[in-house]
Amino acid sequence: MVEPIRRTSRRERELLIEAAGFNLFDLRSDDVMVDLLTDSGTGAMSAEQWAAMMRGDESYAGSPSFERLQRAAREVFGMEYVLPTHQGRAAEHLYLGMLLAPEQIVVSNGHFDTTRAHVEITGATAIDMPTAAADDPQVRAPFKGDIDLGRLEALLSGPDAGRVACVLITVTNNTGGGQPVSLGNVAAASRLAHTAGVPLVLDAARIAENAWFVKERETGYAQHRVADIVRELTSHADVMLMSAKKDGLVNIGGLVTVRDQDLYARLVERSIVYEGFPTYGGMAGRDMDALAVGLREVLDESYLAHRIGQVEHLGEAILAAGVPIMEPSGGHAIYVDAGALLPHVPAEEFPAQALGCALYVEGGVRGVEIGSNMMGRDPQTGENRHPRFEMLRLAVPRRTYTHTQLETVADALARIALHPTQVQGLRMTHEARVLRHFTARFAPLGRPAAHPDVPGLETRA
Ligand code: F0G
Repeated sequence: MVEPIRRTSRRERELLIEAAGFNLFDLRSDDVMVDLLTDSGTGAMSAEQWAAMMRGDESYAGSPSFERLQRAAREVFGMEYVLPTHQGRAAEHLYLGMLLAPEQIVVSNGHFDTTRAHVEITGATAIDMPTAAADDPQVRAPFKGDIDLGRLEALLSGPDAGRVACVLITVTNNTGGGQPVSLGNVAAASRLAHTAGVPLVLDAARIAENAWFVKERETGYAQHRVADIVRELTSHADVMLMSAKKDGLVNIGGLVTVRDQDLYARLVERSIVYEGFPTYGGMAGRDMDALAVGLREVLDESYLAHRIGQVEHLGEAILAAGVPIMEPSGGHAIYVDAGALLPHVPAEEFPAQALGCALYVEGGVRGVEIGSNMMGRDPQTGENRHPRFEMLRLAVPRRTYTHTQLETVADALARIALHPTQVQGLRMTHEARVLRHFTARFAPLGRPAAHPDVPGLETRA
């Protein structure tokens, strides 16, 4: 399947981003030339997946499409109970919404934004404990997605141990640069959790990509099949939550898989209220069939070599342009270090959001901010939270773009890097209470020197 890409002029894009309130989510995708907003549900499906969709059975209960999905998920993840959901955050809603009470703690290598929101709307606290290896974006450590085991152990044996509801490991670590987690780290975190009597939950959105990195980088795994590494990763978990829109290679869908029958029964009760009967959850039969195929296809090592290689190619091209990124390249995305590229824009002025808007104007490329905008406010104090890094994430959809298209992204960044001080900070003019980055609106601060004639840019604080 091919899709036309509409060419836009720089002038058009200046007007379009202003009309979008300098929020990249408010652009029409037809106005974007290379769309790296997300790798979620944006990939191309295979011929086998399209063929499988034709077999989709839309029975309300007991459909063979569900049975095919259940078989595939059991085989790939090795957990007995499989509950489909409409996407990953629905899996979070079913499980975390049931598990958590106010005052409790979820501790993670890195909560994704929706995961954090699902923790915080119950009144619980989400704590991230990334490994110290992730402190320096330029250090090429192999497993910068790991959880800090020392801090985890201290929490689980300290005065707040009784408040910890679960340990949640996100593979790969999306908010931490798409960096992988080692198998040794997952196993150790699981032991600590179980010693403390709390479950180990795996956020498995990109588990195949993580397994590929384990094979490439972790001592002793070079000869293992990715499929076996995936099984070993899940063997340490009690619960797996998955947004199937990533490594399920589908456009919509999610999963909760568990080992415990009673837990499954309680999840089914919630599923019937919020998602649907447990043999479809939030999914159509045809989508379950596409996912059943996708879960197996994603383990194909030729595919993974190309996939991870393509992201790496983008990373190398951006580095060659003199633009700092989180190193090494992530599995699904390149994280441009906007804080380092734009030191003249303070965190309060959203440097990664500003860079995202500049990149759209420069090259018609859409990324997403992973920084102070996304972090939102502390639910207790109401203060803005500032992460350690202000990153612009360029997520590569699976099986969609060519290397050449990605090179145009690096070229656009290179042009911005020639005159970085022309990128001005932003002031937030509208914000929602939770997950504000999806709908926030901004106004530019200062006048971009290169384009003094853009209408509307004159009326600013
Ligand atoms: N967990 C992780 C690690 C994710 O990256 C996402 C989504 C979710 C959970 C939620 O899943 O979107 O299916 O409800 N990440 C997308 C992204 C949106 O752009 O990174 P969902």
